Amino acid sequence: MTKFSHVIIRRPGKSLSNGITSAPELGQPIYERAIEEHYDYEHALEQCGVDVSVLPALEQYPDSCFVEDPAVITRCGAIITNPGADSRNGEKDEIEPAVRRFFDDEHVKHIVSPGTLDGGDVMMVGDHFYVGRSARTNEEGIQILRQFCEILEGWGLEGSEVPLEEVLHLKTGVNYIEDNNMLVSGEFIDKPDFAQYNKIVVPEDEAYGANCIWVNGTVIVAEGYPTVLKAVQDLGYKTLVVDTSEYRKVDGGLSCLSLRF
Ligand code: GLY
Repeated sequence: MTKFSHVIIRRPGKSLSNGITSAPELGQPIYERAIEEHYDYEHALEQCGVDVSVLPALEQYPDSCFVEDPAVITRCGAIITNPGADSRNGEKDEIEPAVRRFFDDEHVKHIVSPGTLDGGDVMMVGDHFYVGRSARTNEEGIQILRQFCEILEGWGLEGSEVPLEEVLHLKTGVNYIEDNNMLVSGEFIDKPDFAQYNKIVVPEDEAYGANCIWVNGTVIVAEGYPTVLKAVQDLGYKTLVVDTSEYRKVDGGLSCLSLRF
């Protein structure tokens, strides 16, 4: 049964306003608000019984508060990824020392070029990891997925590929909240890969809200997505609501703001 003890987060820098975005119409993130939202996020995680390690802001990497992308942490070990966006690739060297505080050499592996992989494309369901083949995780796609799956298999875990057509990352549109329950939106609603789960279909006008995180029995839901919140509560979960609207402006959400393990 999944249980998380640790979470790693990184404070946003003022450079967050220059983060990569597919939605410039939402405007640039306002730093002061982003910091407030980050503190609220940290407090919500603390309420879920995890120890939260807070890393300092890195102004040279505008998207570096999205710590989920440069690493994937499993119950058996950590994989430092090779982020697919040029402006984010160096984040892998910045996250590694924080990850090594929890894992020895034998339990830290690396994805190596020419393939690329973002942790936001990896969704853990028990010992199985779904890996989205996306704009970030597609260069030499087959090779990188083989690398990733070989590392998993070395630890007795397994992975499978899910091709993406529309969204940035796999977890932009599909998120597992344990107990066989999965939030699905858009292109993921009818994907055969997820047919065996109890699917909570997120309406198009709340698609961003599909990015919820389960932390030790509590589901953290983004503020402003009432249909998602009710659906999760109706399943019997305790919920916490956190405003992530500043991060949404740069394609960020609840899952990419932390590494949970
Ligand atoms: N702005 C988050 C990302 O593009 O990875």
